[in-house]
Amino acid sequence: MTDQLRANAPRPGLGYVLRKKLRALVAPFPRVYRFLLRLWGVVVAVRFFLHAVMSGKLRARRDDGRFAAFLSRQSVLGFDVDLGVIREADDVRHALAARGLEPMAGGWTFYVGPGPALDRCFPFLRDVYPPGVGLKILKDLQHPDDAIYARHDLNPAAGAALMRKLTPPPKALMRIANQLHAAGLGPRVHDLIHLDAAGVPLSAYVVDHVGGPPADARAHTAFMPRLRSWLDGGAITTVHSSTDAAMDFAPPDCNGNLRRDADTGQPLYVDFQAFMIADDAALVGRIAEEEKDKTHFGGTRFFRGGGQYLYQAIPGLAPGKRDIETRWRAFDALLRHADLQLDGRLVFDIGCNTGLMLYQALGAGALWGFGWDMPDVAGAAARLLPALGATRATVTGGAIDDATDFAAALPARFAGHDGGVLFYLAVSDHIGFPPGIAALPWTHMFYEGHADQGIGDQYQRIKAVPWLAAAELLGHRMVSDGDSPARPLMLIRRPS
Ligand SMILES: C[S@@+](CC[C@H](N)C(=O)[O-])C[C@H]1O[C@@H](n2cnc3c(N)ncnc32)[C@H](O)[C@@H]1O
Repeated sequence: MTDQLRANAPRPGLGYVLRKKLRALVAPFPRVYRFLLRLWGVVVAVRFFLHAVMSGKLRARRDDGRFAAFLSRQSVLGFDVDLGVIREADDVRHALAARGLEPMAGGWTFYVGPGPALDRCFPFLRDVYPPGVGLKILKDLQHPDDAIYARHDLNPAAGAALMRKLTPPPKALMRIANQLHAAGLGPRVHDLIHLDAAGVPLSAYVVDHVGGPPADARAHTAFMPRLRSWLDGGAITTVHSSTDAAMDFAPPDCNGNLRRDADTGQPLYVDFQAFMIADDAALVGRIAEEEKDKTHFGGTRFFRGGGQYLYQAIPGLAPGKRDIETRWRAFDALLRHADLQLDGRLVFDIGCNTGLMLYQALGAGALWGFGWDMPDVAGAAARLLPALGATRATVTGGAIDDATDFAAALPARFAGHDGGVLFYLAVSDHIGFPPGIAALPWTHMFYEGHADQGIGDQYQRIKAVPWLAAAELLGHRMVSDGDSPARPLMLIRRPS
């Protein structure tokens, strides 16, 4: 140690010195010493309790059960299909072949790529999903809530039973697939759906088709370090003990799983059952932490540590100014009061923040959610929603003003849809009432005001907006949630 370093060596604090002196003083009296020790324990506990209250840590504590229940809430859409009589997995293959489709049979699935035959057999794909999707049908003939992706008895292999048991359930696999996609390593998965084949349930993923050939050794060499470095992030891991140990990652094409994208030439890993999420809370928590500064809105709170934090809390995981579960209970009560269901409806959320109210609507059966917010905030929503399990959502980034053309964000496949529901929540003081909202196909509107407002004044305000003049109030209540005081909430109908 140099003289200078020695001169700067930290000295014990006064508290430390006094404690040592006291300890020496009471050493001959062990009972007094034990009493003082206990008293000190109480002081430390009370001091930390006060810190936890003041910093918000107490209220923000993790609740893994509540968070787990919040994942994969998006409802499963169901569609009737005519595949004749289906008794076992092989019947699905024959039925597809008989309808001009050439299914690619894997260990657990039949895959059919896009084309006229797919559109004829599954016409709903064109109505709901973007063009160019393929369908991956699970061989386990069960509803997505019950299906087992890698069901061992469908494809038995010596010693593989435990590994197959560890393969995540279909809904979790959709979250994993879209993390691969977000990292540029796999195709996007648009949905996990239920096909009703005359009473026989089937599960299927709607996926972006990767139209190119299987990868060659060069593409494999370029791909694997990217995959490994992504896995090193620690949130997602392989079901296999490592990528070196499995045929599914071997050159040149990962056992048929690595294919080139026809448009970009990039190698993409088309199967996702080889992966599992090591820690859901860590994965989503990391996104929340990275995005909280962008999505924070309004003032800070001293009991949240005084800094930026999420506007919309993630239940059980990350605190936010607004508690979206309490809010949704109020929405649900108003929906029931008006005998209105969200099933099959489009939902539009203006100033959607991280999109968690859209997420709730998708959980209640909405067909597709559209959100608009500032570019950074929309980017955060586009990261968070698929990580939670929401895939039927489109979030558009841009500063909203009176010239915003909201209807331009609606894809052609939804033209002709009516009966949508508009969410206009805690935004009216920020953006007013842009006229472009009137052009969206909605019949009902949830209007939520701000903390210093009431039902009467907001109803008057709404009636003064030209495109809301004919609006009819179906129900209302004052709702307080999260760190927010009570606000007016109204359900409104727009006569057609
Ligand atoms: C008070 S927060 C409400 C968020 C969400 N509607 C909710 O109630 O949970 C207001 C939201 O509107 C967005 N916002 C405000 N002014 C905007 C503008 N001019 N253009 C786009 N988004 C805007 C903010 O980024 C923020 O996410």
